[in-house]
Amino acid sequence: MNEHHPLPARQIDPDDIGYNDSASPSFDSILAARLNRRDFLLGSASTGAMAIFGGISLSACNSDASETTPIEKLLGFKAVPKSLADLVLVPEGYSYSVLYALGDPLSASTPAYKNDGSDMDFENRAGDHHDGMEYFGFSAEGLPSSLSNDRALIGMNHEATTNEDTSTPSFFLHTDGGTATLPRPASEVDKETAIHGISVFEIKKTDNKFSYVSSSAYNFRIHCLTPVEIHGTASGSALLKTKYSPDGAMTRGTLNNCGTGRTPWGTLLSGEENWSGYFTRSATDDAARGTDKSVTSLNRYGRKQGAASRHGWETGGSDDKYQRWNISKTGTSTDGSDDYRNELNGMGYIVEVDPYDRTRKARKHTALGRFAHEAAAFSRPVEGKPLAVYQGDDSRNEYIYKWVSSANWSSADANSSDRLATGSKYLDSGKLYVAKFNADGSGQWIELSIANASIAAYAAYTFADQADVCVNSRLAGDAVSATKMDRPEWCNVNPATGEVYFTLTNNSNRRVEPSSSPQLAPDSANPRYYTDMKGSTEQKGNPNGHIIRIAESGGEASATGFTWDVYLFGAESTASTAGVNLSNLTADQDFSSPDGLVFSTSTGICWIQTDDGAYSDVTNCMMLAALPGKVGDGNKLTLSYAKADGSKLNVDTYVGKQPTTDTLKRFLVGPAACEITGACETPDGKALFINIQHPGETTARTNIADPSKYTSHWPGNAGYGSGGSSARPRSATIVITKNDGGRVGS
Ligand code: FEO
Ligand code: CA
Ligand code: CA
Repeated sequence: MNEHHPLPARQIDPDDIGYNDSASPSFDSILAARLNRRDFLLGSASTGAMAIFGGISLSACNSDASETTPIEKLLGFKAVPKSLADLVLVPEGYSYSVLYALGDPLSASTPAYKNDGSDMDFENRAGDHHDGMEYFGFSAEGLPSSLSNDRALIGMNHEATTNEDTSTPSFFLHTDGGTATLPRPASEVDKETAIHGISVFEIKKTDNKFSYVSSSAYNFRIHCLTPVEIHGTASGSALLKTKYSPDGAMTRGTLNNCGTGRTPWGTLLSGEENWSGYFTRSATDDAARGTDKSVTSLNRYGRKQGAASRHGWETGGSDDKYQRWNISKTGTSTDGSDDYRNELNGMGYIVEVDPYDRTRKARKHTALGRFAHEAAAFSRPVEGKPLAVYQGDDSRNEYIYKWVSSANWSSADANSSDRLATGSKYLDSGKLYVAKFNADGSGQWIELSIANASIAAYAAYTFADQADVCVNSRLAGDAVSATKMDRPEWCNVNPATGEVYFTLTNNSNRRVEPSSSPQLAPDSANPRYYTDMKGSTEQKGNPNGHIIRIAESGGEASATGFTWDVYLFGAESTASTAGVNLSNLTADQDFSSPDGLVFSTSTGICWIQTDDGAYSDVTNCMMLAALPGKVGDGNKLTLSYAKADGSKLNVDTYVGKQPTTDTLKRFLVGPAACEITGACETPDGKALFINIQHPGETTARTNIADPSKYTSHWPGNAGYGSGGSSARPRSATIVITKNDGGRVGS
């Protein structure tokens, strides 16, 4: 049951993508005073929002003594060791159970999941590759409730599906592993498009145990063909016109949904990440388009002419639902209303879903920018002040963004009866910024506005209007020389301080002396270049990643300046503390490739999750519990790199206070070849939900008929569903509780 198999080298990590060939920025030396502000943890707006939607800050510091043990010590558990077992490991004194796995039915009439490749009707089943998720409390009367610890709706992303490389099908979903040549059968394509998107499902606690309610009338799915509305600046723009939506106000589906956010008004935000690769473009499409500026945009977003699609969905047939995956110019119209040449512009947004009302269409908020979105994290709401939404673009050398609403926060909106109208109030009108990190520990938010001369006069791309800036935010970021980061993944706001944490998962393209354009020299915010060994293979660049954090000037969400430091550097505990293990991680704390990052609003614990291929010779992916301090609580460091001509490249950086076992500890290790992602909790902090994504993803498609060669059998081998120790692996949500009934992480 616990055996693991030699893992074949992953040929292609579908998430390790980079298309940023723009010229590198030079550093400004803008001085910003280091922040020394009073926290405003208990501001009236937070309190107002909390009454309805949960509590962000107050419960973090004023936990109810009657509900928690008086001797509670956060991070009091014994660290979980690194592991290669095909099991979920949690600390002594904790338990977990599987809640909701790939294929589980979402209606009473949908049969139980057989997990042998024969199952159909995925529009009414759990999708694949569970990712970000949020908890939406639900009262017994069926109303939104911030206080419900035993009934809720979970809104969850289904990011992708397990494929061997970028040209093979979702092989665990098909009986014989599916068709790995083109054309793809329509029946296989229909299944694969249905397992992407979003789930909303009801959970309930009975006899002290959570389960999902398969027959709930509140359950629903959004998938690749569900009608979705385009909102904000680019809605109706010429860039959005398609055969499906000649007025540019609609598209079909949401794709590669990765991180999430939870709005202060009780809706789900879902980030569309690696959507570009699902579309194909003909080898002669540049000329067909007259080599117009759309070619520049397509190239910048990873669709050069001749690009093959990830799963060949465009070959499913002549029906429009297959042809929309071919974004070549095939029509004769001047505006694109007779083909899908503009279809790619309908993907890459923050999507808002009202989990409490399945009759409302989801909305794509174009003003927040178009890129490989991860999470969308709100600033702490303050009555009468704008809201900020922090966002990262997860590709190599991409940017960090911030949205600032035009509307000032009104705590009455936390209780809005039309939640999507409230969403449009805060997310359709405002300013989009991109981050620039300076070598002195300061930073700037640069507005991406058509009024900005650097954007209006950008030589590489002529922006028509603000809609064009939103749709091509990567190009706008290039125009203002934003800082190229080591793959920004999740971000979240520390409810105790308001500071913003961004995971930077890794970057294989850092080099002291870059030899080609995707390669970049280390800079202050991305300061490491080193070689890590995986077995006998050298991994160069920044294979282990780091976590950067930002303190807004004056603590204001709308600030245009900030200070920053690196909270933690990922590293193996045995690596050099001089140049690699700069946070001095011990064996109970060491990690690589941070990805998910979520703060508990109950305990204040920062949950750090990994999606790692660098340390996977030693351990499966994991989750750590952290109690971070504040920006500036550590030291300035200068890293000195030798260059070939004998000179030095010196890079100043700022590392947070070194963690101790009281402030950082491994809490969980997942099964083989998975990533750990997504986290949400009950308001009392006593049940923590996380996702195990793609266990066994290193399985070779050609081994589908031989279960002994699957690299994972979880969760079948843990007794969930059919198949036991020879089950096909399934992405799944687990719920973690403490055996003594205490809060998770104590
Ligand atoms: Fe979907 Fe960048 O993780
Ligand atoms: Ca290693
Ligand atoms: Ca991620």
